[in-house]
Amino acid sequence: MPLRRILTGLHRAWTAALVLALVLATGALAATSPAAAAGTTLKAAAEANGRYFGTALEGGDLGAPGETAVAAAQFDMLTPANEMKWDTIEPSPGAYNFGPGDRIVQFAKSHGMRVRGHNLVWQNQLPSWAANLPLNQVRSAMESHITAEATHYKGQVYAWDVINEPFNGDGSYVQDVFYRAMGEGYFADALRTAHAADPGAKLYINDYNIEGVNAKSDALYRLARSLLAQGVPLGGIGLESHFVLGQVPADLQANIQRFANLGLDVAVTELDDRIQLPASGAALQQQAADYAAVVKACTAVSRCVGVSQWGVDDAHSWIPGTFPGTGAATMYDGNDQPKPAYYAALSALGGSTPGGGGSTTGALRAVGAGKCLDVPNASTTAGTQVQIYSCWGGTNQTWTRTSAGELSVYDGGSRMCLDASGQGAANGTKVVVWSCNGQANQQWHLNADGTVTGAQSGLCLDVSGTSTADGALVQLWTCGGGRNQQWTLG
Ligand code: G3I
Repeated sequence: MPLRRILTGLHRAWTAALVLALVLATGALAATSPAAAAGTTLKAAAEANGRYFGTALEGGDLGAPGETAVAAAQFDMLTPANEMKWDTIEPSPGAYNFGPGDRIVQFAKSHGMRVRGHNLVWQNQLPSWAANLPLNQVRSAMESHITAEATHYKGQVYAWDVINEPFNGDGSYVQDVFYRAMGEGYFADALRTAHAADPGAKLYINDYNIEGVNAKSDALYRLARSLLAQGVPLGGIGLESHFVLGQVPADLQANIQRFANLGLDVAVTELDDRIQLPASGAALQQQAADYAAVVKACTAVSRCVGVSQWGVDDAHSWIPGTFPGTGAATMYDGNDQPKPAYYAALSALGGSTPGGGGSTTGALRAVGAGKCLDVPNASTTAGTQVQIYSCWGGTNQTWTRTSAGELSVYDGGSRMCLDASGQGAANGTKVVVWSCNGQANQQWHLNADGTVTGAQSGLCLDVSGTSTADGALVQLWTCGGGRNQQWTLG
């Protein structure tokens, strides 16, 4: 082996040993201790609150790598979007098809997620043979369906949406085949049948537009109280929570609380928050506030067991197909990058992004561009304006967040700090590297919403022109919620 390589190897080994010793001595490993790491994903932050954070997937989504990676990394509860509905499970009388549902359950199991079963009795996605049954045959068909499905998934689902969407907006019952055949009695019958098949599953009634106190949620409240008084095994209420931007009801928490006071669990089961397209930066900020409000309303009530979003990302959401002109309704954009709503939900759970605290080293990724904060040509000249560039892991793209709030680059004598040039606080101020001097224009806040703000200026680290090109320069600009102001460290 040539002497130079041996020396380089020795040097590397010594450097590694030295770094390890320093890290141990300073306790910098605390940033990756279990307690700190517990809050860096939605599921970890939710679990730290004794709750879950769920999502929904369709069978077809299982082949989407970006979407499934986010599902596995961030969520610990999974709802099959369609695969456990009557039309899939029992397309013709007594002929059961569990394969699609089983595949969702398998995905959940292999990623440590629990499953919300959805759903057993619903007027939609109900095959025509069932919808058109003579009324005197409906009860036995319903009981057979529930028994077969709940038995098949016994022990594998945490909860069942036993009855889905039974109310009209005015609080009257949907006149579906179940109601026409059995009247209000079908609720108790369906719940008792499900309980007999799988006594371990929490049994829910799930509906939309019942998130606030209104005629529909009042009707459900009366029904729930009456079922409980009869000893029916109702265990929970699912608030679907398909919201319109800015319209999360102010009394959401109070409404959750009144159901909880009946002795029921409550879950947010299908959260999304639709935006008029194209989504503006301000809209994404409002969406972040909406998501935070929902999470906080849930965590404020001890019987609110968890929040599930309907789908993982904007590319696979049902919203654009059903409400044309609207979309961007989830916490992840079409490229599976987290949006402000993600950071807001995480923060509302008391979590933070890996870059949010402690000493962290790694790439500072410009989320909108999918590139990394980079010192051009690995320059060590003070005043060199930083840029974004394709991530390659070089030392000129490796940033360390220090406990003093600096973002430093390079090691040893070459160490430099990210710096608001000339202590500028105006839009367009260049962001440069400079020798570290501890001043406020070298201190940065890594915020829960994904922005990085200058401690002195309050302005956001911003890729100029919303460019995604290699070499696009980085500056300070008023925070506007744009994707060119979103960063992740580590
Ligand atoms: O798979 C077929 C495809 O082969 C066909 O070409 C295409 C043509 O439209 O349809 C595809 O099926 C669609 C299916 O989703 C799978 O993507 C159906 O048209 C479509 O109607 C169906 O929509 C589902 C919807 O429930 C129907 O009620 C959504 O995926 C599903 O997310 C949605 O979920 C409901 C909850 O169960 C209850 N609460 C509301 C929520 C949103 O609507």
